Amino acid sequence: MGDRKDFLITYHLSPITYHLSLITNMTFYVTTPIYYANSLPHLGHLYTMVVADVIARSKRQQGIDTFFLTGTDEHGINIERAAQKNKRTPKEQADYVVNYFKKMTDAFALDTAHGGYDIFMRTTEPFHYEGVSELWRRVAKAKTPKGRDALYKAHYEGWFCAPCAAYKTEDEYAKPANAGDAPTCLIHETKLDRVSEESYFFRLSDYDEALIALYDSRDFVRPEARRNEVKSFVAGGLQDLSVSRLKTSVSWGIPVPDDPNHTMYVWFDALTNYITAIGFGNAQQEKKVGFEKFWPALHVMGKDILRFHAVYWPAFLMAAGIEQPRAIVAHGMWVDPTGRKMSKTLGNTIELDVLNKFFPIDAIRYFCLREMVFGQDGRFGYENLIDRTNSDLASGLGNLSSRTLTMIHRYREGKIPAGDIADENRLAAKRAGVEDETGISDFIGHARDEFLRYFDDLAFSRGLEECWALVARVDKMISDAKPWDLAKDASQRQTLNAVLYRAAEALRWLAVMLYPVMPNSAAAIWEQLGLSDQVSKTDPRELRWGDLKPGTEIKEVKPLFPRIDKAKTMEEIKQDSAEQKSEVRGQRSEEERGSSPTVREGSSDAGPSSTQGSGQHATEADAIPGVASYIDIADFARIELRVGEVKTAERIPKADKLLLLSVDVGEEKPRTILAGIAQYYEPESLVGRKIVVVANLKPRKLRGYESQGMLLAASIGEEGKPVIATFAEDVPNGARLK
Ligand code: MSP
Repeated sequence: MGDRKDFLITYHLSPITYHLSLITNMTFYVTTPIYYANSLPHLGHLYTMVVADVIARSKRQQGIDTFFLTGTDEHGINIERAAQKNKRTPKEQADYVVNYFKKMTDAFALDTAHGGYDIFMRTTEPFHYEGVSELWRRVAKAKTPKGRDALYKAHYEGWFCAPCAAYKTEDEYAKPANAGDAPTCLIHETKLDRVSEESYFFRLSDYDEALIALYDSRDFVRPEARRNEVKSFVAGGLQDLSVSRLKTSVSWGIPVPDDPNHTMYVWFDALTNYITAIGFGNAQQEKKVGFEKFWPALHVMGKDILRFHAVYWPAFLMAAGIEQPRAIVAHGMWVDPTGRKMSKTLGNTIELDVLNKFFPIDAIRYFCLREMVFGQDGRFGYENLIDRTNSDLASGLGNLSSRTLTMIHRYREGKIPAGDIADENRLAAKRAGVEDETGISDFIGHARDEFLRYFDDLAFSRGLEECWALVARVDKMISDAKPWDLAKDASQRQTLNAVLYRAAEALRWLAVMLYPVMPNSAAAIWEQLGLSDQVSKTDPRELRWGDLKPGTEIKEVKPLFPRIDKAKTMEEIKQDSAEQKSEVRGQRSEEERGSSPTVREGSSDAGPSSTQGSGQHATEADAIPGVASYIDIADFARIELRVGEVKTAERIPKADKLLLLSVDVGEEKPRTILAGIAQYYEPESLVGRKIVVVANLKPRKLRGYESQGMLLAASIGEEGKPVIATFAEDVPNGARLK
């Protein structure tokens, strides 16, 4: 009925819309952002991929022809700079990061071979150049809804944040302390570049009404709170957008068609990947994938880049006369325990190799979806992840599965028994706490419907709660009925059969429902239940109670989620992350003990009495905030702190925690410094950075190198994640810190 109503309404509105909606109901296209190819992925990037992967798997499971895109954004000043620092070409820089990304997607089973993405899109693909150029040409010819040219050339003057790849208005940067200095980006806390040059502009200001009409016409931006945010941003008035840079300023990018002195703005280039990947502007790619077949897409991204997707992208598409995306879906950000967004620039990321080393993939996926209320920010903590894995997975789902299957082996020789109860046995069954079949089948049917509704609504956490309510219900039935007692009483044969059948059938349903979130565990339950078809292709909407065939031979029982020893694992994680830190700190020689360096804000010559209070930042992981034992100014003066510039940085073979740095501290030759930060910093991200070096530390041999100093870093959180101390203003190498 619902479909028929939709049909009538849509058809009434426009036969073309109806035609498109028919096509798009048979196919589905979901995207993640394409990630910058200048730094390596962390939990945040993984999260968006997992969300998109879950959506793609749900659709495929329902028989919908689905295309899932992820990839990398490879042009622009950031990549150019990263490449320069690493003495690579920009393409080599991108290849390096892509290589790492692909290893990551493989390790987390998100790649094509594991049933994950269909394309790893790269903006350096020649077919992408063709498609973007085609889009540009269309926009260049277009008129705005207010009848003016959509594209025009003018002069631009303003502040540009390279890490954001965006111009910043006054409310988006922090003013410099000294007049004449550059302001600082509020997100990245890095300096902005002054840009003053000729540029092409997109007349975004003419699109406000059309955009608001789009937001009002349907569920275009999701969740609701984000839609309101975007709407009020647009209603506040839009400024035209500079969409090119002079080639002399940014050469690593796609040239503007017919005006090669200009390079396209990286966001114009990047957003267009969503259509070029499936064939827009390139016949071969169209044949391979199919723009006609798959467009429009559902774009999933973090709220940090919502504006680009919900304002700029729809406006570009309007200008080019291309159908709008299916929806723009923005999730919240993973933040650190202090509430700051996880990012490489801030050095507070959760590293994927640590996650991968200590946790099963399915536990990470489950945690991501269960813990983060979709759309809101979520705090990540390893302890939390361990608790959820142990309670929900090891004791919950895992235990239900192994106890059920073990009892079928033990009491029914490994064959699924029939679940019906003859009339004469009903009373005994009821007394044993086994509810009648309609009770459990209604409950499970309702849980499935709710689960699907929540997932459609992107309320993954709520959907999973439905599944765990089912786990709890079946667990309770088993505990109430006590199959181990029933097995001793021949007259209770049918009651025992009924308990075992219901538990096994519930497990089958759970495997189907949970497959998109936990593909490995769902497949394991499926296989252990002795089912031969594929859980990945079993449509949860078509599950029917009783389809599990009595007599099916189950397989060997294997534990799904071994319990994680919390104390031991936390210790190992801590060690893994902190070993390198202690290696840095371990460089402190004996004589420094008891006088660990503290760096104070404010005046350098303030006397010891003023060290009390909030201005003090201890550099030790375990320093007690507030009152530490005082040192004399003379003690402090013994420590020679100097500004250093990282000249080169590289990993040391077989020492995964250490980086080998050469640091210019204003002397004849750079110093060699070993720092235990390899798990938190990419070597290339450090080159060119100004740091603080303890310059008069006794040299120390480590792994065959002589370390001639120590760098200072804050120590964050339980694992003592290092965040390197640096400067907000330009400082000469070798300058002394007092
Ligand atoms: N290259 C652009 C996107 C262009 S899309 C046409 C870009 N890249 S990025 O590498 O910075 O990736 C940003 C995205 O990574 C976020 O929108 C989000 O999907 C993911 N995340 C990065 N950090 C994150 C968190 N701390 N938490 C959750 N997601 C995060 O922007």
